[in-house]
Amino acid sequence: MKSKKTGASEIPPSFSILFDLIRWEEKAILDAARSKGVSVSLVDLKECVFDTLSSSVKERLVLQRCAGHYRNLHSTALLESLGHRVVNSFHATYISSNKLFCTLALIKKGVPTPKTKLAFSVDSALEAIKQLGYPVVLKPVVGSWGRLSALLSDEFSAKALIEHREYMYPVYQVYYIQEYVKRPPRDIRSFVVGGKTVAAIYRYSAPSEWRTNTARGGKAEACSISDELNELSIKAAEAVGGEIVGVDLMETNDGLVVHEVNATTEFKNTVPATGVDIPSLIVDYMVELEKR
Ligand SMILES: Nc1ncnc2c1ncn2[C@@H]1O[C@H](COP(=O)(O)OP(=O)(O)O)[C@@H](O)[C@H]1O
Ligand SMILES: [Mg+2]
Repeated sequence: MKSKKTGASEIPPSFSILFDLIRWEEKAILDAARSKGVSVSLVDLKECVFDTLSSSVKERLVLQRCAGHYRNLHSTALLESLGHRVVNSFHATYISSNKLFCTLALIKKGVPTPKTKLAFSVDSALEAIKQLGYPVVLKPVVGSWGRLSALLSDEFSAKALIEHREYMYPVYQVYYIQEYVKRPPRDIRSFVVGGKTVAAIYRYSAPSEWRTNTARGGKAEACSISDELNELSIKAAEAVGGEIVGVDLMETNDGLVVHEVNATTEFKNTVPATGVDIPSLIVDYMVELEKR
């Protein structure tokens, strides 16, 4: 890896990783950086006291890896305001982390996405479901790992679930209701790094589970990157302004649809399934950014 030349001394390329949890991914990125001679400062968000006027994070370039969504979003906002270049940006994280905002961005970009309805009361949610026709998928607008996403197959279960949601935090009364896409028992997760689709997996749902998330026991298998998958993945990343993202897609009789884009994505199952060294590609991308 090339170093920056400043007079007589050579400064190795560098960036910070902001984290709240060291997972397989953070370790792998760190190992990749070390093996390339890239200097990485690990910054534990939980130990930081941030000031709104001056930054305590040394490197200008920051790879945002906080697993906690609100920690991630708010620390990115703060660091950007202090002049840091954060990957992914606040805009990309904000748009992609909300399923409605993400869906709207995909539609604007012309990316096919499942038919979705929005409602803000019990009666209108039930009406929206009726219009779509059972089964439907009800998802929280903010959430991941399939958590609290429900497959509703009849009016009794729909009413029960919506009634429960009425007693939850107000964001759960934003009813994001989606057609159930008749897909094989799998979906596709592709990875886009710096505008390139670098890897993709099929995720097969575990027995007695309709969601394919690997966090729910979904099994990863390599998926070859077709022209369609490549084009849609790149477009989906662009739609939210994401630089390092995971794109979720489903196969339909009319081609692929994108159901979400994930910033700060996990890839511990993808690397062994595909043999693609995603951590290394992330480090290369960060180094390329540092040179710009
Ligand atoms: N409209 C849908 N039709 C069929 N399956 C879906 C639909 N939406 C989501 N799923 C399944 O549920 C999983 C989780 O949904 P997703 O929108 O990706 O939310 P999360 O952010 O929790 O991963 C998907 O990976 C897919 O397996
Ligand atoms: Mg998902």
